[in-house]
Amino acid sequence: MKYSVLVVDDDRLVNEFLIETLERAGYDCHAVYSGEEALTEFNRRTYDIVLTDLKMKAMDGITLISKIRKIDTDAVIIMMTAYGTVETAVKAIKLGAYDFLLKPVMPETLEHILSRVAEMLDLRTENKILRRDMADRFQNMIGKSKVMKSVFDLICSVANARSTVMITGASGTGKEMVARAIHYTSNRAEGPFIKLNCAALPESLVEAELFGYEKGAFTDAKKTNRGRFELADCGTLFLDEISEMPLNLQSKLLRVIQEREFERIGSSTTISVDVRLIATSNRNLKEYIAAGKFREDLFFRLNVIPLHLPELEERAEDIPLLARHFVDKYNKENEKQVKGIDKGALHLLMKYHWPGNVRELENLIERAVVTSKVDVLTEDDFPAELAIGRIGEGMPKLQIPMKLEEGSRYLILKTLEKFNGNKTRAAEALGITTRTIRNKLAEYELDN
Ligand SMILES: Nc1ncnc2c1ncn2[C@@H]1O[C@H](COP(=O)(O)OP(=O)(O)OP(=O)(O)O)[C@@H](O)[C@H]1O
Ligand SMILES: [Mg+2]
Repeated sequence: MKYSVLVVDDDRLVNEFLIETLERAGYDCHAVYSGEEALTEFNRRTYDIVLTDLKMKAMDGITLISKIRKIDTDAVIIMMTAYGTVETAVKAIKLGAYDFLLKPVMPETLEHILSRVAEMLDLRTENKILRRDMADRFQNMIGKSKVMKSVFDLICSVANARSTVMITGASGTGKEMVARAIHYTSNRAEGPFIKLNCAALPESLVEAELFGYEKGAFTDAKKTNRGRFELADCGTLFLDEISEMPLNLQSKLLRVIQEREFERIGSSTTISVDVRLIATSNRNLKEYIAAGKFREDLFFRLNVIPLHLPELEERAEDIPLLARHFVDKYNKENEKQVKGIDKGALHLLMKYHWPGNVRELENLIERAVVTSKVDVLTEDDFPAELAIGRIGEGMPKLQIPMKLEEGSRYLILKTLEKFNGNKTRAAEALGITTRTIRNKLAEYELDN
């Protein structure tokens, strides 16, 4: 990368000499003759590197450094000083200068120090990109509720440990997302994140997938294959739905966790790996243990850091935030320009019980964004079940005798249910106006 250098020296000859040397070395440079000029220039644009003289009329180099630091904390500053003022140079470094050069400056010395700076800047840029990526990956996980904040805290505090994390939670609560967040926040982020879904494969394949196999180990083993444990070396192995792992494999897994080594199927060579395990389960493992379907000792080995994700219904305050996030996501994916969700629809979303949790919310928003013909999503953009769930809540029991008022409430709600919450059609069937239905719903506190 071509870096920019601002040269500040009140001696015209020195200045010219420096610019010539720097240009020859391939830097993009600009010369000024005073601290004041340097600041003006710095306010106009940024420079990667500043090369400044110490002794100048008016503003000296030390003052310039502290002023530049206030504008730009990233620029690398190099101070030039004549022999005898080394003490000041040390002060400059304390103020944040990167290094100092003794005058007269030799072209070789200058080039050498600048190539060192360039190397450092390359590394810095690379790091910045990496950090930004990582933040993105983590920040895509949304939540401001107290429980989610404590989940985020836990992710950060356990990321760098090698201890196994056991993530539990109902379907669609974000277990896999948390596993990835842990990996990408950890110091293993640049290593692999390898996933194995224990429920998706037949028993015989799970073993081959986990440990790999040698050519000829079984009929279909046409060539040697590395297993997920090997592939995850220096990274994270994500064992999804661990409750479904066959019992005989559970004991093999236990050994790998304890000894960090194993053999490929059909091989006697022991392979050791450095792998961090993250497992998930949406089943109650204690019940599995009681039923003899899961080894208790394995459970304890896996459950070192338990992390439970609450159901979406229990953190309804996250719903508006998540909904907004998914609107943005699917706007982008589908080049749509939906601006938001109106109050009524949002109310509906917050009241619904979300058996499919965040995944269900995401799917509904995706569908709404894709099919909507309006700017702002309304109740009509969401399936009627959302409203019906609430209708059910307000439904009286039909019995004789019962008050006429209760009976008509039953009739109205049942009819609405039959027409999937469509008020116009329900009103038509009941022989009343849509307005009357709306009024009745308001009375039952089932409006939005
Ligand atoms: N906090 C969150 N912020 C943003 N998106 C989320 C969040 N939680 C979950 N999601 C999204 O919801 C979907 C389901 O999440 P994920 O696959 O992690 O759930 P899961 O618990 O592993 O589900 P299952 O048990 O069904 O495997 C994903 O598309 C994910 O991006
Ligand atoms: Mg999952």
